[in-house]
Amino acid sequence: MLFDVAAMAPKPRYNLLASLIVPRPIAWVTSSDARGRLNAAPFSLFNLMSGTPPVVVLGIGNRDGRPKDSARNIVETGDFVINMVSADLLEAMNVTAIEFSEDIDELAEAGLTTVPSLAVGPPRIAGSPVALECAYTRTVELGQNRALFIGEILYAHVDDDVVLNPDRGHIDAGRMNLVGRMHGGGWYTTTTAPFQVARIEAGDWRRAQSSSVDQNSESLR
Ligand SMILES: Cc1cc2nc3c(=O)[nH]c(=O)nc-3n(C[C@H](O)[C@H](O)[C@H](O)COP(=O)(O)O)c2cc1C
Repeated sequence: MLFDVAAMAPKPRYNLLASLIVPRPIAWVTSSDARGRLNAAPFSLFNLMSGTPPVVVLGIGNRDGRPKDSARNIVETGDFVINMVSADLLEAMNVTAIEFSEDIDELAEAGLTTVPSLAVGPPRIAGSPVALECAYTRTVELGQNRALFIGEILYAHVDDDVVLNPDRGHIDAGRMNLVGRMHGGGWYTTTTAPFQVARIEAGDWRRAQSSSVDQNSESLR
């Protein structure tokens, strides 16, 4: 079936696209406002966009025409923390996604405890296997009540149990037991069944192709 994405109404278009581009990692963002009030919320329109510089992007929509608390806090204070969501924290994450008013601390509502960050104001979530301390760099307005918030990762706190080789930056990613966002209706997926596919050098690919051509012509003789 062909979908004319540009012509679709917003809700079905979002449903479609959020079902097609899966699984999406979830940035569980802790932030605080200028008065130091804490906030937490998940965002799956999120990804790593560059290693050097170490850049992440969050796509955050407005609520009733006004920025969501996380977006407002990120711009107001200039920093935030991305906590990655492991399966055991999924229910607590879901509580922090409730559309609470700005005076409510979602972390307290979800019964979560926090650990102070090293370089940024907002704390990280205790128990999250990965927490990335980020400095806000800029906003890219998309119009239609939505913007991209770009940040640079300053520090990565990683559970010791999943670190394989710190000098090489090697991590046992499957062991983090992170969840990914699937489609609407509250669907998620696990990441506990990773498998390995080696990259192929161009020369090896050519040699493999020509040897299979040779074998085919042998079998035709
Ligand atoms: C798994 C999940 C992913 C979400 N991803 C996004 C997203 O990428 N962008 C967005 O604007 N809202 C997203 N939401 C909704 C926000 O989390 C929700 O609006 C939240 O209340 C915002 O909180 P805040 O106002 O404290 O920032 C998501 C919700 C869930 C449960």
